[in-house]
Amino acid sequence: MSDGCPTIRFTVNGQLRIVQTPPMKRVLDVLREDLHLTGTKEGCGEGECGSCSVRMNGELVNSCLVPVLQAEGAIIQTVEGLAEDGALHPIQQAFLKCGGAQCGICTPGMLMASAQLLSVHPHPTVAEIREGLAGNLCRCTGFIRIFESVLAAATEGRATVPEQVGDAR
Ligand code: FES
Ligand code: FES
Repeated sequence: MSDGCPTIRFTVNGQLRIVQTPPMKRVLDVLREDLHLTGTKEGCGEGECGSCSVRMNGELVNSCLVPVLQAEGAIIQTVEGLAEDGALHPIQQAFLKCGGAQCGICTPGMLMASAQLLSVHPHPTVAEIREGLAGNLCRCTGFIRIFESVLAAATEGRATVPEQVGDAR
């Protein structure tokens, strides 16, 4: 803890966390450095790539853009909070099955964006998937396997995937 810094309380993955830290420190850095939750990744650091996406108060946010002061009282979910009782979340299982992850730098953010999308649209169309993941960039997969993963998760993780994904954006 840092002397002279405010104390900030919020919930991460169901646990109350209390940090004493500079108020403008990014939520991304607080998660990684203070709380040792290194699943959340930094890509651009400028709000452009979505690698740092977490769910905060039911919304998807770029944690590189949010000062921790704004997280006072917030409920945050990171990629570490997706699995339950040792079982991967359906979207994690689908990414594994469908090859939705390659180098992995975008993957935590993609998973969080996908989980957010599925919470709003449990059976999304391809257009809704494209829109829901529009803030998340991937340099490796060409997006098709990511879209297929979301469709597979929406159809309860079945290995066969609908064919209507089409071209990468
Ligand atoms: S690291 Fe936050 S949007 Fe790219
Ligand atoms: S898997 Fe490499 S950037 Fe998406």
